[in-house]
Amino acid sequence: MRRSFVLAATVTALAGICVALPAEAGTPAEPATAATPPMGWNSWNSFGCEIDENKIKSMADALVASGMRDAGYQYVVIDDCWFDPNRTADGSLRGDPKRFPSGMKAVGDYVHGKGLKFGLYQVPTEKTCAQRNNAYPGETGSGGHEHADARTFASWGVDYLKYDWCSPAGTLDDQIRGFTTMRDALAATGRPIVYSINANSYHFPKNGQVHDWNGIAHLSRTTEDIKPVWKTGNPNEYPMGVTDIIDINNALTERAKPGYYNDPDMLEVGVYDVEGYPGLTDTEARAHFGMWALMSAPLIAGNDVRAMKPEISRILNNRDVIAVNQDSLARQADLVDSQGTAQVYRKPMADGSIVVGLLNRTETARDLTATTAQLGLDEYTARDLHTGEVTGRSGDLKAAVPAHGLQLFRLYGS
Ligand code: GAL
Repeated sequence: MRRSFVLAATVTALAGICVALPAEAGTPAEPATAATPPMGWNSWNSFGCEIDENKIKSMADALVASGMRDAGYQYVVIDDCWFDPNRTADGSLRGDPKRFPSGMKAVGDYVHGKGLKFGLYQVPTEKTCAQRNNAYPGETGSGGHEHADARTFASWGVDYLKYDWCSPAGTLDDQIRGFTTMRDALAATGRPIVYSINANSYHFPKNGQVHDWNGIAHLSRTTEDIKPVWKTGNPNEYPMGVTDIIDINNALTERAKPGYYNDPDMLEVGVYDVEGYPGLTDTEARAHFGMWALMSAPLIAGNDVRAMKPEISRILNNRDVIAVNQDSLARQADLVDSQGTAQVYRKPMADGSIVVGLLNRTETARDLTATTAQLGLDEYTARDLHTGEVTGRSGDLKAAVPAHGLQLFRLYGS
């Protein structure tokens, strides 16, 4: 065990040297795009198409006031329905003049002025998802307009593009071509832009699950859409609950690395009353957030940040849990033990510590155990990442876990 600690520390030190080398003397190295999982906020889970520039600006204000920006949430992403349903006479995209009368660059400038970054949604096909579902007029997808649209995004100061296939047409090869075209168009702008893709909508099997999109995107959706519910029982079909998604994502751990993440969809922490789902309990929301941290998933909040209750703010602002997510190794936790519904997760960290999650998927409180063999440690200090309590321990790690709860510990070998 001690050996792997030393090895991890050495690798980290070497990685640090490698990163520092390309910088010119005296110039700090630019961090690589999405070197750790992107964090931010997106309009879709709470508001769908009900968006306008004042709402987005007030959300940027709230990210600052709530402390979320300073905790690491950077990107303010406007999802579907921001655009004019008609391109301009020269074929350009523009914001919906009624709801975004100041234009998208002005919204981006406002977001940047708050020390945040700016993101937008678009599709590689002809219709966005809302257009395809007849919830929004027009056909303004980027298919055939990729380079011009990428230049438009860059000129507006876009830092993050969510790019969603959203069409029943297209083979996996067509999708690879379509997503690669926009990757190259974004690169040609010279602006660092986080590239988030979804190959799943309207497709079965889900090509975000089947195919490894490493090298094409920074993050790729692995499942159908999440809703604020613990479980639907659906096998990667709409709609998905927190645990349904975890089951799909667990099989894809090998893909996650710095600069590429499995995207199990955006957070439902603090999101209530959607499509008949009342929302997660606080215990479930804490487990959802902790599991997304363990899985090195993008942490894209979806709640109304202007009106969150204190417990939701505590969950989203828990810096110990965020540190698990933002670790520079970017390893996705392995499921090391699954006795049916009592699961043990283990995530190695760059400093040689490990994070252990005990997830109780049953309807009753349980005592869960991670054995020393699963931990790879027998003497350690354990920090409870929800209470901050630190204890010296030896032997198996045991904890009482509430129904639908997760206990998270960071363990330092001694
Ligand atoms: C879905 C996507 C959602 C949201 C929606 C917009 O395909 O999974 O996250 O972006 O489209 O219409």
